[in-house]
Amino acid sequence: MVDVEPKATILIVDDESSLRGLCEEVLSDAGYATHTVGDGPSALQLLNKTKDIDLVVSDLRMPGMSGLDLLKKIKEGSWDVDFLIMTGFSSIETAVESMRLGAADYLPKPFNISHLLLKVEKILQARRNRKDRKKLSNLVRILNLSQAMNTKLDMKSLVNEFLSQVQKNFAPDGIALFLEEKSSLLPKVTRGGLLRTNPRLNSWVKRLGERIFRQQLPELIMCKGEGIACSNSEGPPPEPLVSSVIVAPIAIRRKSVGSVVLLRGNDKPAYTREQLQLLNVFAVHTASAFENARLYAQMRDMNLEVIRSFAQAVEAKDVYTRGHSERVALYATHLGGRLGLSQEDMNRLYAAGILHDIGKIGIPESILNKPAKLTNEEFAVMQRHPELGRAILYQTTTFGDILPIIYHHHEHVDGTGYPMGLRGEEIPFLARMLSVVDAFEAMTSDRAYRKALLVEAVREILASGAGRQWQEDLVVLWLEEIDKPEFASLHRYNGASAIFGASLSDGQHG
Ligand SMILES: [Fe+2]
Repeated sequence: MVDVEPKATILIVDDESSLRGLCEEVLSDAGYATHTVGDGPSALQLLNKTKDIDLVVSDLRMPGMSGLDLLKKIKEGSWDVDFLIMTGFSSIETAVESMRLGAADYLPKPFNISHLLLKVEKILQARRNRKDRKKLSNLVRILNLSQAMNTKLDMKSLVNEFLSQVQKNFAPDGIALFLEEKSSLLPKVTRGGLLRTNPRLNSWVKRLGERIFRQQLPELIMCKGEGIACSNSEGPPPEPLVSSVIVAPIAIRRKSVGSVVLLRGNDKPAYTREQLQLLNVFAVHTASAFENARLYAQMRDMNLEVIRSFAQAVEAKDVYTRGHSERVALYATHLGGRLGLSQEDMNRLYAAGILHDIGKIGIPESILNKPAKLTNEEFAVMQRHPELGRAILYQTTTFGDILPIIYHHHEHVDGTGYPMGLRGEEIPFLARMLSVVDAFEAMTSDRAYRKALLVEAVREILASGAGRQWQEDLVVLWLEEIDKPEFASLHRYNGASAIFGASLSDGQHG
């Protein structure tokens, strides 16, 4: 005999053993797996134990719990099963009532075998179609979550996105999200009236969240209905309004980073196993998005470390520029903030500020630290630093998008700068910005060949070079910014003495 997978699993509920036996025989012969019980409470017990039942075929008239009562209990619970009710001719109204309560169909008694099989097959076909549609819609939900999460890289937006997806897809009356921070599990977000007003429920939810975080298995807790016993170790929730709870670990590669608990009140249908599975998949995707965000932040910090150590390498050689790069980076992003630049541009500007003079690593110290004006030959060597900087960073993949800023930070808008002699808008915009704050920082700091200039003098130099060396509106904006009180904290003047009337070329060696 060939072992064939049963077509579906059917539970037959009837107090009359002869009819029970007949149904069992007919349905087994037709290829279905069957269970039989003699009353409603046993049916509920079996449903609790056996998770794969697709259809309940139940008699209407039974002592104790009637077929209708059984149907009501099933619809209150979390079982996703279809229901076919067998009724006598006299109870046609009850048959209609059973349809209203959610039965898939009814079968008037007495019936013949083919009639029973026809009804069963029709219900199961509709069930398969419904499941296929549901699977598709769940896939769409997961895809939507995944897409929404993938566009975000910081934890705060990820958490908000996750919560809004959960709200949309699970309609909970309470959400509690727990995340691990410094090796303890903390409640990150708690939402919903039930949780806000009920401290006992809150601590019950926390204990549950902690256990699922440790055990790493999702769980459905049914709190209402006959034949339903809360088998979770926390016991039933200390709040009669809660009807069902689903909870899933947020874990990746067997490492838990948190857990999420969703509560439903009595006025909504209880959560089902299918919803639990969907929440579990959501949680897995979320864990991987959280992990990406963590790795991204780590990489960003590492990059910052790398660029800082690059800058320190330059400053070790050129003693007078100590702190120059960091201040140029701060000034540049301050000006960027005034202009409302995007976060990406701000990041570029900061990195370029730190690294703009990296090419000075390749300039002899005798030139860098010369305590007098450079000769023409020496100045020509010094002018190679943008090109050297670009060559150094060209070898890294991370800094590709700041190379043009580094390379062109000594261009003048009138075309008299170096290395290319570009004019106006031919010069990358961020390089034009950097040029203004770089000059300002250089002139307000002590250098090997001169002391720091007073701000008033620097202001005059910048104003007179606006439209020639620097883009005019950028100079105007920058001069406005340095007058603001908040600028004082950004700017630490180097050196008290000042040389008035220094020329532009004195102001900036390189
Ligand atoms: Fe420079």
